[in-house]
Amino acid sequence: MKKRYLVTAALPYANGPLHIGHLAGAYLPADIYVRYLRLMGKDVVFVCGSDEHGAAITVRARKEGVTPREIVDKYHTSIRDTFEKIGIAFDIYHRTSEPLHHETSQDFFRKLLQNGQFEEKESDQYYDEVAGQFLADRYIIGTCPVCANTDAYGDQCEKCGSTLSPTQLINPRSTLSGAAPVMRPTTHWYLKLDEHEAWLREWINTGQADGQQLHDPATWKNHVVGQCNSWLDQGLQPRAMTRDLDWGVDVPGEIPHAQGKKLYVWLDAPIGYISATKQWASDHHTNWEPYWKDKETALIHFIGKDNIVFHCLIFPAILKAHGGFILPVNVPANQFLNLEGNKLSTSKNWAVWVHEYVAEMPGREDDLRYNMIKNMPEQRDSEFTWKGFQESTNTELVGNLAGFVHRVLVLMHKNYTGVVPAIDANREFKSGWNAEQVGTFDDELHLLHLKLEEMGREIERFNFRDALRILMEISSAGNALLQFNEPWKTIKDDPELVKVVLKLALQYVAVLSVALRPFLPFAAQRLRDQLNLQPLNDDRDLLDIHNELAEGNPVIRANHALNPAEHLFTRIPDEVIAEQIAKLQATAQANQPAVEASEPAPAAHPPVQDEIQYDDFAKLDIRTGTILEASRVEKADKLLKLTVDLGFEKRTIVSGIALHYQPEEIIGRQVVVLANLAPRKMRGIESQGMILMAEDAEGRLSFVGPQEGWPNGWGVK
Ligand code: MF3
Ligand code: ZN
Repeated sequence: MKKRYLVTAALPYANGPLHIGHLAGAYLPADIYVRYLRLMGKDVVFVCGSDEHGAAITVRARKEGVTPREIVDKYHTSIRDTFEKIGIAFDIYHRTSEPLHHETSQDFFRKLLQNGQFEEKESDQYYDEVAGQFLADRYIIGTCPVCANTDAYGDQCEKCGSTLSPTQLINPRSTLSGAAPVMRPTTHWYLKLDEHEAWLREWINTGQADGQQLHDPATWKNHVVGQCNSWLDQGLQPRAMTRDLDWGVDVPGEIPHAQGKKLYVWLDAPIGYISATKQWASDHHTNWEPYWKDKETALIHFIGKDNIVFHCLIFPAILKAHGGFILPVNVPANQFLNLEGNKLSTSKNWAVWVHEYVAEMPGREDDLRYNMIKNMPEQRDSEFTWKGFQESTNTELVGNLAGFVHRVLVLMHKNYTGVVPAIDANREFKSGWNAEQVGTFDDELHLLHLKLEEMGREIERFNFRDALRILMEISSAGNALLQFNEPWKTIKDDPELVKVVLKLALQYVAVLSVALRPFLPFAAQRLRDQLNLQPLNDDRDLLDIHNELAEGNPVIRANHALNPAEHLFTRIPDEVIAEQIAKLQATAQANQPAVEASEPAPAAHPPVQDEIQYDDFAKLDIRTGTILEASRVEKADKLLKLTVDLGFEKRTIVSGIALHYQPEEIIGRQVVVLANLAPRKMRGIESQGMILMAEDAEGRLSFVGPQEGWPNGWGVK
């Protein structure tokens, strides 16, 4: 592990409140990772802040009829407070409207210019004669050339996710005045991204840059590398780093033609990580530079998948073009979280807003964190449902975790007035890990240590779901330990056995009180209080536990006095869930245009085909695989070219799914492949197999696949 860590979480646009998709995408994983590093005694700084420039802000301001300044002030404060309430513990939550940030970004711009990284170029761009403004990014909407959505933005279609430029829009119109725009020449500074393509490709795929091994590419997520390669394969183009706007960071005034020009928001925003670090360092009377310039620092960006190219290609190119900065060692982007079967959508109000959740469910911050971590979209999109949420609290948090902790503490009080007893270390009892097995206190403590190490390894690999599952296994093993040895019965005949069993169970609880902290910080604190252990302050508590366990020492010793037992979590009743579901439906409908009055009649299923024999079926060699790369096929709007990992080899497969899936959204998805279909050429590309898809009455397609985490290349029968 490195000496020092600088962890960033994507700066949210200060143009609306936070929803659970934001949490699951970037902030929760970052928070878990950072809290873990701190508990392991690492030097870590965790920065975030509001992204306060760009059309996201000004368009919102126009909608609400207020100034951009008012918008960012309002949402900056609300977002910052919401993060705090849900326990996302940044070292600093900065903002890009701060003068320090403007200066930092302008210095960057000057340096890039000085280093010959820009090309100043005049081109024709859309201009709104009514509003008197050029129309880039979200200032212009029109029909998406890919999916025919009539409200696609000039930089992106939110419906299908395609990256666009204004000139690709069909029937473009201004979001400012609604007018049809005209073309006018304007001058901008373009970053020569094409000149960075070669090293970026090598760095992303091998971890090497400038002849040095900077990271291990095997630790990067497949879908992240796949999306980068899809971009690189299409070739990087020079990209304008300035805009004609009146809200944003000024192009430094001394530069000729700077008048009226602002920095492109995707240039200034990531530099916001640097300004935030500077501010943090100055607040703490320390130097920011080692965090960004020393090779012993690990820089890690937590983001959602829609930000991958900016963090894996464009920002690294900017850092390299500037010189003197380190590159990220990992960008563990998450995929998207859906809500009750649909995409989260701010405009349709299909969301669970975090500020509403914390107000309506006080004391249940960790219930939400738990459910979101359990279903985190780490490798593929995942889903939040209120029912699933209720169930994870009631069965796992209440039934398993809180039940275990409560039983142990109650028995400790009942049998030993809450004072930890001394034990006979040679006494054998039934192991909680396996009913058939007996162990001693020391053996079982060692097993606990192994589990704890396993959890740490998963966190270090950004597998937060697995890490949490391992912690819950400790709780399950604790419950089993009690179940197998039945201390409530044996207390009469064999009090020495009960002492050993309960003291061991208490070690589980004590370990959980620290190890749970990255995931469930509020519950961890409640647990510390019950155990009467000093409050956690993030400073190497977990490292201390590792050291104790490694030496065979218990983490809670004889004679320690416990506080009274309380319930760590409580059940969520059905009414609470019904209310949330009703609220979601009601607010969403209030924002919807009238829905179609009647359901269309169900279509008839096609008849089952002629009977075949088993031998016919056995000829099909069907295998599991994972999509590594995906890109469009030129002049074929239905086709995607895929690279599919079959475990033993990689195949190129051309698949007719482009009208149903965007290349970006399917990278990392597990699929089922007909592997022995004769190769055939489609649009000049040899397709070496076929992806099996489900099709419904309307011709919609859906992937079919194995359960999560299934190995590639094995048979489907
Ligand atoms: N505001 C952007 C978004 O919400 C993220 C900016 S991340 C940064 O998608 F790197 F630019 F800061
Ligand atoms: Zn589209």
